[in-house]
Amino acid sequence: MKTLAVVSHKGGTGKSTLSIHLAVKAQSEGQDTLLVDLDSQSSTVAEWASIRTDKHPLAVTAQVSDITELQQQATDEGFDLLILDCPPYLNDDTDQITRLADYTILPTSPRFADICTLPKGIEKIHQPYSVVLNSCTPDLEGKISFKTAQVYQMLNDSDIPVSPVHIIRLEAFTEALNYGQGVTEYQSNGKASEHIKTLLDWIYMVA
Ligand SMILES: Nc1ncnc2c1ncn2[C@@H]1O[C@H](COP(=O)(O)OP(=O)(O)O)[C@@H](O)[C@H]1O
Ligand SMILES: [Mg+2]
Repeated sequence: MKTLAVVSHKGGTGKSTLSIHLAVKAQSEGQDTLLVDLDSQSSTVAEWASIRTDKHPLAVTAQVSDITELQQQATDEGFDLLILDCPPYLNDDTDQITRLADYTILPTSPRFADICTLPKGIEKIHQPYSVVLNSCTPDLEGKISFKTAQVYQMLNDSDIPVSPVHIIRLEAFTEALNYGQGVTEYQSNGKASEHIKTLLDWIYMVA
């Protein structure tokens, strides 16, 4: 079983959104997936699961202190993938969680203010990990936007690992959640689905 942790230094960066869409996509590809909501403050995954009709991927709520036991249980029960939607901070809990993970992603918007505060606490993330730029300005005619390109450069200059896959800002990511769906179910041929597929393929490759 592979474990993917989704962490960040603040709320609202897209942890729950990406966790949910990745879990639905992985499940549809035959990877039995357990999605764990570790953010007791916002419980986005739990709320999404409560309006979802399909019971897969299985979504549960847990405390950080239970995570080792939960990982063992998921392995014993034959899950293929465990996705941990983490609380919005980087601290000793992050160290504990990301040690258990095969790979960690840190979604962040490409806003200057978010990128500047990123290095604070980043040493708490156990490698391997990558920042995933989320809610990026839509690409122009197939080309990466100037602003996103600038942020890639900033992260590269700071030696912060960053995923080559970035996610653009699309309403479909939010709308799908309102129906208890993943975006690959909501708009299976849309751009947002394409992004999630590309991100998941990349995670499989590096994890
Ligand atoms: N790529 C995106 N495009 C459009 N909206 C997004 C995108 N990613 C996240 N959002 C929206 O941003 C808000 C915060 O996302 P959320 O996943 O709840 O953040 P976090 O879990 O990090 O606190 C939500 O309303 C979500 O639907
Ligand atoms: Mg969240």
